[in-house]
Amino acid sequence: MFVDREGSTTLAGGQPVRDAAQEAARVIGHVTQCDGSKATIIATSAGGEAHENGFWSVGRFISISLPESRIVGLVQDVRVDGGWSAEGDNRMFIQMELVGEVRDIPNRGPVFDRGITEYPHVGAIAHRIRQRDLAAVYELGGLDTIAIGTLSQDANLQAHITMSRTLSRHFAVVGSTGVGKSTAVSLLLHKAVEARPKLRVLILDPHNEFSSAFPGICNTIEVDGLDIPFWMFRLEELVEVLYRGRDPVVEEVEVLRDIIPMAKAASRGGATSSLLRAADQSGITADTPLPYRLADLMRILDDRMGLLESKDMRPIYKSLRQRLDSAIRDPRFRFMFGSRIAEDNITNAVGRLFRIPMNGKPVTCLQLAGVPSEVVNSVVSVVARLAFDICTHAKGGLEMLLLCEEAHRYVPSDPSLGFEPTRYALARIAKEGRKYGCYLGVVTQRPGELDPTILSQCSTIFAMRLVNERDQSIIRSAISDSSASTLAFLSSMGQREALAFGDGVATTMRLKFETLKSDHIPGTTTARTDETAETHFDVNLPMIIEKLRSGGQEPTEEELFMNRSAAPAPATTGMEQRPSLAKLMPEYETAPRLVRRNDGRLFGAVGDE
Ligand SMILES: Nc1ncnc2c1ncn2[C@@H]1O[C@H](COP(=O)(O)OP(=O)(O)OP(=O)(O)O)[C@@H](O)[C@H]1O
Ligand SMILES: [Mg+2]
Repeated sequence: MFVDREGSTTLAGGQPVRDAAQEAARVIGHVTQCDGSKATIIATSAGGEAHENGFWSVGRFISISLPESRIVGLVQDVRVDGGWSAEGDNRMFIQMELVGEVRDIPNRGPVFDRGITEYPHVGAIAHRIRQRDLAAVYELGGLDTIAIGTLSQDANLQAHITMSRTLSRHFAVVGSTGVGKSTAVSLLLHKAVEARPKLRVLILDPHNEFSSAFPGICNTIEVDGLDIPFWMFRLEELVEVLYRGRDPVVEEVEVLRDIIPMAKAASRGGATSSLLRAADQSGITADTPLPYRLADLMRILDDRMGLLESKDMRPIYKSLRQRLDSAIRDPRFRFMFGSRIAEDNITNAVGRLFRIPMNGKPVTCLQLAGVPSEVVNSVVSVVARLAFDICTHAKGGLEMLLLCEEAHRYVPSDPSLGFEPTRYALARIAKEGRKYGCYLGVVTQRPGELDPTILSQCSTIFAMRLVNERDQSIIRSAISDSSASTLAFLSSMGQREALAFGDGVATTMRLKFETLKSDHIPGTTTARTDETAETHFDVNLPMIIEKLRSGGQEPTEEELFMNRSAAPAPATTGMEQRPSLAKLMPEYETAPRLVRRNDGRLFGAVGDE
């Protein structure tokens, strides 16, 4: 027996009253064909715009009543035979995909199973799904569930995900620009830190939009305030910075590979003559995260340059030295070369980045707007590597989520683009992080441009509206369950709507994310700027140019719109603004300068250029 939720129609013992019979004929259909995965139903639709016609629209779940169970199916295709009659009834052909079956279990109520044990027979009655059955389809069977919105099909039903699986098996949020990805991420993260007090979240924020979305629980780090000393970079990460993302000169890299371990040995108190041996003996390599001083590195390089037998190598030493010099002086790399961090307080710097101790602020926003890509690549690589290593050594003592916005920038699908160590560090979290409590969340507008290995490791995907055919097909290939046809809606979903599929949900679910409070929506400062911009028709260009020259942070709102006449005069050349090498490395001042050219001039000294 089928009882419609609203109670408008009751088929009781096959003896309905006449009006009810007419209406029933419109809300029920009959199976006319069925194969292993699909069924066709014939139903009668009322003429005009009767609301019950909507029961049979594409994307709706319907149910087929059988003696022992109810088959759940998803409408894929609806059509009417031979023209539409506004006056009389019309015959509809409904094609549906079989999704699973619901059985009533005593003392438990309806329980959904994806497997179908009893297929519908011809003539079986199909009708709109009951609300309880619909809830059973998305029931997560006792797992820790969290509501993140409502079902698109029925706004009275909450959309649940299991947070533990969503996090631990990594997740992805994909969708075209402006559909609400970042807002959905903010929602998920708020729910995640609420549900899991041990969880720390590090957001790699390329648009500096997230810190405003976590009032009171977020620590914001700008690259200016970031402290990752150069000695924590592996050789290849350092090389990415030195060569600004271009192909490195192999010979120069080999020199670095030789002399960095020597500088490390020197900082442990070795004598210059025996540095190479000391480094060799203690197994120090260019990648060992031991501190060293730039002054030692430069001195060793200068020493080598001065040696008589290294005449042929001199151009290589010289160009390497210039490269190091220019990177050290570049204000954009101040966070690594300007670092004053000695070995003993590195714990604080890393602790600040990863919120250990948490101090009530589990979220860190690493603001990366305006930072050059080679710096972003190196920073992401170091940070992802550290996150994984800290989690493995903590042996489950903490949980960490690394959230990568615009992930296609760091891990592009094209192997010739991107930066290998970043790709490797993120892939390592994706593949092995779950065991150690290190999780990955990726957000992208272009799933087609994201490394497929990363996407395939994300077991829960929230796919929002995607217009590009290639992006759609990537998502289509990622979905494995039988309701793949749901993805037909990818291009037509509304704002804030998503298809959630994978381990975090019971069945592929079309949902609408809840409405977020305005102070939880990312980028609200940008939005405020828009309002301000309505009353300001100009910006303070000298200030912007000033910021560009000094490689500093983006201007603040006041600076941006402040009266031009009140703006500080821009620097004449911009060069005076840069910190001197001596300022960055006072130890360099006192370091011996050993290289004297044949003509007697000092070579390589700071004031010598
Ligand atoms: N759940 C929500 N609650 C309230 N407002 C929302 C929600 N989702 C989206 N919005 C609105 O939509 C706007 C755009 O959303 P959002 O910035 O998240 O899009 P996006 O997909 O991240 O865009 P982009 O790809 O450009 O970064 C938000 O500023 C907000 O006003
Ligand atoms: Mg966004």
